[in-house]
Amino acid sequence: MNTKMSKDFPKVIFTEEEIANRVAEIGVQITNDFCDKQEDGIVVMCILKGAATFMCDLCKHIDLKIKTEFMCVSSYADSTQSSGRPQIVKDLDADISGKHIIIAEDIVDSGITLDFLIKHLSARGAKTITIAAFLHKHIAVRDVPVEYICFDCPDEFIVGYGLDYAQYYRNLPYVSGLGE
Ligand code: IMP
Ligand code: MG
Repeated sequence: MNTKMSKDFPKVIFTEEEIANRVAEIGVQITNDFCDKQEDGIVVMCILKGAATFMCDLCKHIDLKIKTEFMCVSSYADSTQSSGRPQIVKDLDADISGKHIIIAEDIVDSGITLDFLIKHLSARGAKTITIAAFLHKHIAVRDVPVEYICFDCPDEFIVGYGLDYAQYYRNLPYVSGLGE
């Protein structure tokens, strides 16, 4: 195999430059909206693995004193269909009671993962829970409030900028559809 991966993904949905600009904008919005919440404590929670790229870029544009935490929630196994049953693969380590949580998520598809996470983090005593999603398909079957959305995206299987298919293609710097 001597072909480059990017040759398989000519259909760019969001370019690297569009993504960088939009993620920076969301970071500035979060900075403005959360600047009076630093004393309680602000935690940006990355939902591994898909949101890792987004969360790291986003945090660089949040000009506030924040902590970062990581949880791994799996609902897809290695297919393009959700199992509908999120499972915690790695829970957070820190005490989040009384803190403002900003969940950084890669994509809102069915909304089942976020619905589950909101309940989980509320039970752990979070003071507020706010969702920042990189992509939103607007087909969710659960009513989850998503305060920050980088991009609305088509209802197709998406890869790149952290999003995978069978754990591959997370390292594409842009967002592409999986098919032709
Ligand atoms: P949910 O259906 O909203 O619970 O989405 C669960 C998770 O499935 C997301 O956090 C993603 O990691 C993954 N996912 C959903 N849609 C896609 C897609 O189009 N490409 C890659 N991963 C996806
Ligand atoms: Mg995810």
